[in-house]
Amino acid sequence: MAAPKYYEVQAEVVSVKELKHNLITAVLRSSKIAKNTKPGQFITIQVNNKDESVPVLRRPFAVSYTNGDEFEIIFDVVGRGTDILKRMLKVGEKINVLGPLGNGFNTKVNGKEKLLLAGGVGIAPIKKLMQYFTNKGDQVTLIWGNRDKSGFFDIDFFMDQNIKLFAATDDGSLGFEGNVLDILKAEIKNNNLKKINDYNIYVVGPNPMMRAVADYVAENEHYCQVSLEVVMACGIGVCQGCAVKKKKEDGYYLTCVDGPVFNSCSIEMP
Ligand SMILES: Cc1cc2nc3c(=O)[nH]c(=O)nc-3n(C[C@H](O)[C@H](O)[C@H](O)COP(=O)(O)OP(=O)(O)OC[C@H]3O[C@@H](n4cnc5c(N)ncnc54)[C@H](O)[C@@H]3O)c2cc1C
Ligand code: FES
Repeated sequence: MAAPKYYEVQAEVVSVKELKHNLITAVLRSSKIAKNTKPGQFITIQVNNKDESVPVLRRPFAVSYTNGDEFEIIFDVVGRGTDILKRMLKVGEKINVLGPLGNGFNTKVNGKEKLLLAGGVGIAPIKKLMQYFTNKGDQVTLIWGNRDKSGFFDIDFFMDQNIKLFAATDDGSLGFEGNVLDILKAEIKNNNLKKINDYNIYVVGPNPMMRAVADYVAENEHYCQVSLEVVMACGIGVCQGCAVKKKKEDGYYLTCVDGPVFNSCSIEMP
């Protein structure tokens, strides 16, 4: 059996920023992670709480950007692990990181324009994918949806990229009023976007959003790539805890090694 192509490193914290309350971005330094991570692959971070005796499992995060020896993560503080991580991230400290893990997006699909759909903090892996495609000179459209305008950050950065950018909010407080699928349909109808089949489509966000987009593209006899966020224990194919049901055959895939990116036609969307 081939040796796994991931590394365990002590990555140095280069910078940390609280983008808004409990939405954190951090830049870490490890050339092994930064240089070997493909868009859509992830890392797991060992979170340690020195004050508690109960060990906490590693937590998975997308790599959202790379620059030389440095890589970025963006995460919401949603529970115990991310709360500990928030407190661990101090400039100059070393953090135990395992990666890159998983398969990443298939970027070698035929040369159609790229349509990237992000819901909330699903922007993290989408940002790295955008970086990959824009560096290659591909035409990229990004639709980013949030519940309200407070979900957006670094908008200037995204506006500076050579991409078509659309924003949507459920409450209409910024951009289009509606969800990512609503704006997608509306902009196709208004001829601001091409027909759905003219794109290679990549989607990351909450499961109901990815399911809705996957159903819509299936109605058009097309497919998209989705990146699943399921609860993971080991992240390396050992515990079998991240199974997702195959669609056209019996059995399951493991999200951590067969995914987290899947063709929407190949799985029962969670
Ligand atoms: C491949 C992958 C990439 C991810 N990338 C990012 C990222 O870039 N940014 C980010 O903010 N989050 C990301 N996540 C989700 C992140 O790992 C979880 O939010 C985190 O592990 C929660 O840990 P916790 O201890 O703080 O929360 P817990 O106390 O364990 O749980 C709090 C809440 O979060 C839910 N939750 C826990 N783990 C996950 C999970 N793995 N996926 C979805 N919901 C979960 C629980 O069901 C619960 O409702 C990713 C998950 C996966 C599998
Ligand atoms: S998380 Fe353990 S097998 Fe996937």
